[in-house]
Amino acid sequence: MAKLWSQPKDNGDKERVRDASDIVRIVGDSVALRPKGREFSGLCPFHDDHRPSMNVIPSKQIFHCFVCGASGDVFTFVQKFHKMDFREALEYLAERAGIALTPVRVADGAAPAGPNRRTLLEANSEASRFFRGMLAHAEHGKPGREVIERRRIASEMVETFQLGLAPDRWDGLMLWARQRQLDEESLVGAGLVKRRESGDGAYDALRHRLIFPIHNKAGQVIAFGGRKIRDEDEPKYLNSPETPLFNKSATLYALHLASNKIQSERTAIICEGYTDVIACHQAGFTNAVATLGTALTREHARELRLRCDKVVLLFDGDDAGQRAADRAVPIFFAEQIDVCIATLASHTDAKDPDELLKREGGAEVFRKALASAQDLIEYRLARVRARLAGAGLSALEKGITQEIAEFAGMGLATAPPQRRELIERRLAEISGLRESTIRAITPAGRNGPARVFVEMSTADEGPDHSKELARLNGGILSACEHLLGCVLCDGGLWSRMSLPDRDLVAPEAYSSPLVARVATLMQSLGTDEQSPALSALLQATEDGVIQSAAVCLMSRIASETDRDDARLSQHWRACLVRARADRMAGAMSELADSPADKLAQLREIKSKQGADRRVMPRPRQ
Ligand code: UTP
Ligand code: MN
Repeated sequence: MAKLWSQPKDNGDKERVRDASDIVRIVGDSVALRPKGREFSGLCPFHDDHRPSMNVIPSKQIFHCFVCGASGDVFTFVQKFHKMDFREALEYLAERAGIALTPVRVADGAAPAGPNRRTLLEANSEASRFFRGMLAHAEHGKPGREVIERRRIASEMVETFQLGLAPDRWDGLMLWARQRQLDEESLVGAGLVKRRESGDGAYDALRHRLIFPIHNKAGQVIAFGGRKIRDEDEPKYLNSPETPLFNKSATLYALHLASNKIQSERTAIICEGYTDVIACHQAGFTNAVATLGTALTREHARELRLRCDKVVLLFDGDDAGQRAADRAVPIFFAEQIDVCIATLASHTDAKDPDELLKREGGAEVFRKALASAQDLIEYRLARVRARLAGAGLSALEKGITQEIAEFAGMGLATAPPQRRELIERRLAEISGLRESTIRAITPAGRNGPARVFVEMSTADEGPDHSKELARLNGGILSACEHLLGCVLCDGGLWSRMSLPDRDLVAPEAYSSPLVARVATLMQSLGTDEQSPALSALLQATEDGVIQSAAVCLMSRIASETDRDDARLSQHWRACLVRARADRMAGAMSELADSPADKLAQLREIKSKQGADRRVMPRPRQ
């Protein structure tokens, strides 16, 4: 998008910013780096790295990964890591270095109308200013300041976390935006303003709420959480919807504030909510972050793994804690990172860190709870032991086999060796079997059902596919790949996709030839008006590699959505939004080559996206 901005050819900005930015510091902010001779090394954030493969070379001011080949200068790193365009990266680095850039003007008529990354960011940052202004307002800010006082949130925390207030009216942000001539389209796109059903007029989405801005890891405001002030209002928290900027399941609240401490302590504390994180930071535990009302995902795990080697999951109660711990096991299992569970319930009657830390001596109790946190695997095995205690021989055998199968599904065979040994030893103790027996009945693959196919296929297809399958199992997936996985989980989703949306899962959408072949099959099943779920797909082909790829994608999405229909369809909707945005971005980047006909193409894409998919005809059963 930088190309759409008129910029004097050589104003020296880029050079000045480059000279003022040390690549070791910029990379080191987000990735733990260890000195290695005159260079530094760390985990590469651009592939599923398990040993430090990325080198940062200060003398050349470049980074280079010798496994995936990612490399470049400080601008390349920031663009890739934070998913910014060049101009955004330049502004980000300039601000950090305290350099004023030569002002640029948007070329008249060249900027695309409607929301894009830049205008969405602007909308969020302007709205954040509005909310903060309201909180500070002598009269209108009172209700917000009362809550803050009652909850004993220190004023430094209000500053650090940029808390704000949404006033108790329908048009506070709207009026303010109009005065400042902000683009209404972008406020709508950011979910801050909603259009009336009738079509005329719009109103504020967040009203009479204490506002917690949500920042990405680069520190840009990408969404908001709003807590109700009046008891009778519902829901308790209202959060921004997913947008091209805001992927809830990859975002950790306060990561931009906690990153440095997470690195220096080599430990991250994961809490459950906004107020808990703020209470932790206020009490000096500045390595605390939170998920945003969702379970931990692999994307969260990956962000943390780049920065530290230990994660403490802090759960309020016993019940919720147990469920959350169960879900966290497969997420962290194959990662080189120690995960512990701390449950407050066994140390205090305070219901969450916020409540605890505001008590006399609360920080001490909190520290104790952290220190006595239990290793996640031990925690899980303790539960297995409890379940199997006193079981008869055949129940024991069945229980152990099942447990082994589950661990195998999580990647026991490829887990860090110490972890594998621990599990095998413990399972042997529990069952009374020899460790060698346990090992012998442990399947070799990463994924239970996929294993058979993986083994079948690697023999004649070469190592290419096994790499690709490993990525589908645990690596980074594109939005379109997520979509494909969703449809494999529930074939019914296919009939809920409009024709242009189905293009998002067409074979051409995939750079991986293997996934493209899965997509081809799906397309032909779908056009034959068969529900293209996994079972149909497996029957439609005898090619073991394609079957494996489909199984990997399906089980990956199934476990990420907890095998829950509602969560699946939520995830599917979010991925549709992201995939459409990716397609737009793709079209945009080509725009510069031949503006005239590309613009026409873009309009076509946009008009298709505007189509209401509910009116699309559904395939007959
Ligand atoms: P809690 O209900 O524990 O809230 O939800 P809290 O953070 O302790 O808030 P206070 O102390 O009662 O004010 C934990 C987190 O779950 C998400 C929020 O991120 C919240 O911080 N949540 C909760 C929602 O997104 N929506 C809700 O309606 C409730
Ligand atoms: Mn609370």
